[in-house]
Amino acid sequence: MQATHYERIGGEDKVLALVTRFYDLMDTLPEAYGIRKMHPQDLASSRQKLFEFLSGWMGGPQLFIEKYGHPRLRARHMPFAVDASARDQWMMCMRQALAEVVDDKTLAAELEAAFYQVADFMQNQGGGPAAGMGGIQIR
Ligand code: HEM
Repeated sequence: MQATHYERIGGEDKVLALVTRFYDLMDTLPEAYGIRKMHPQDLASSRQKLFEFLSGWMGGPQLFIEKYGHPRLRARHMPFAVDASARDQWMMCMRQALAEVVDDKTLAAELEAAFYQVADFMQNQGGGPAAGMGGIQIR
């Protein structure tokens, strides 16, 4: 069987490092201010939740699902105006975090493509791919 993304990235420590760098970048890059201000002032719980989600999403322990049940990720983002610009800001932080934290460039590129699929799907404003899907939750 092929190794999971979780195994290939280097397990829990690396997933944590990725999330830490991602939110540090969001917190400091002026270009990401648009999405930073959607988040609570204290990013501790955002960091914890993204770590738990990514652990399972990458094929490791399903920490998020164990705590909160089905992710319903799109529904959980409905309170926030996610348009193409928000998606691009999110991806900018994640792309840079991947480049800094993931040593295997092939893996970094695979993860970037996979993240883009999710981020693009998260749009609920501005007529993006899933913007007209109302309450339908497939991820
Ligand atoms: C497309 C742009 C995105 C924006 C603007 C955005 C924004 C947000 C905001 C403002 C929150 C609430 C933070 C909090 O409650 O602490 C949140 C929560 C979350 N986001 Fe995103 N997000 C985006 C994409 C993504 C992607 C691509 C993923 C996964 C790969 C993701 C995973 C999560 C998770 C797991 C949570 C916690 C959900 C919960 O239990 O409330 N987000 N996001």
